[in-house]
Amino acid sequence: MNGYVLETRDLTKSYNGRPAVDGVSVAIKRGEIYGLIGKNGAGKTTFMRLILGLCEKDRGEVMLFGDKDLNKARAKIGSLIEEPGLYRSCTAYENMKRFAMLYGADKAEIPEILNLVGLSDTGNKKAGEFSLGMRQRLGIAIALLNRPEMLLLDEPINGLDPAGIKEMRDLFVTLNKKGVTLIISSHILDELSKVVSVYGIINKGRIVEEIRQEELENRCKRGIVFRTSATDKAADAFKEKFPSGICETEGDKLIVYDPLDAADRINAELVSRGIGVYEISKFSYDIEDFFLEKMEK
Ligand SMILES: Nc1ncnc2c1ncn2[C@@H]1O[C@H](COP(=O)(O)OP(=O)(O)OP(=O)(O)O)[C@@H](O)[C@H]1O
Ligand SMILES: [Mg+2]
Repeated sequence: MNGYVLETRDLTKSYNGRPAVDGVSVAIKRGEIYGLIGKNGAGKTTFMRLILGLCEKDRGEVMLFGDKDLNKARAKIGSLIEEPGLYRSCTAYENMKRFAMLYGADKAEIPEILNLVGLSDTGNKKAGEFSLGMRQRLGIAIALLNRPEMLLLDEPINGLDPAGIKEMRDLFVTLNKKGVTLIISSHILDELSKVVSVYGIINKGRIVEEIRQEELENRCKRGIVFRTSATDKAADAFKEKFPSGICETEGDKLIVYDPLDAADRINAELVSRGIGVYEISKFSYDIEDFFLEKMEK
């Protein structure tokens, strides 16, 4: 076992000659909360359906839990794709009982799962009278019946009010702490920004960027740009002078993320080493901007 719960290679699916999922290769480790972020039509649902075997791939590979025997491995996945199909005239408990029978799951676990998703005190209320957030949480409860190691949730937050969003996020974190790997799609970054450990940005069926939460926070920090004719030398000089500083180079730019209050000292250091600096500017880069740029391209 290589620690990956899901790996795909060149996974591709077209509809009417147009790729919905286009050459996707991802490797998702156990314990992650993977946020699949993309606009409407980017391919999020199709990707999840391919993983679950709900539609046929054109080409590529899927490996689950390091195994190519997908039928066996899929038993370890719970999913909620689009709206859950609930028995609307049944209570939360009755819904759970029906699905437990269908899946051959242990009924004794129902109270605990309902408690986990915050639906233990809905009593005689019928699912048809539930709010969207409650229906989504019941959908997740049903997905939890087979004690999955991984959950695939397609836009579970879509349409929820702020309180519902918070409850849903808390639930993700609780499940994750219990050892469940989550793959959650969304078209709104902000909905997931507080819980995700790694983002995959999907655009026109392709993963255009994968970035870890901490890396994103780093990158989206403010920074100072020094334009110079000798970026490598400038980076070396910077690292020598500021050993705990953070910088990167890009073309003729040395970009400093930390320290941010030392533009004058950094400049003096570079100039004293004969490195010509012909422009200094500051920028602040918003997380939202970062995603929009990647999603719109
Ligand atoms: N069953 C289908 N038949 C034909 N085209 C489809 C089918 N399912 C998806 N597509 C097309 O594939 C592309 C990706 O769709 P998909 O539903 O995977 O995107 P999405 O990211 O889930 O979008 P949304 O945010 O709207 O849910 C779209 O262009 C869509 O029209
Ligand atoms: Mg979708």
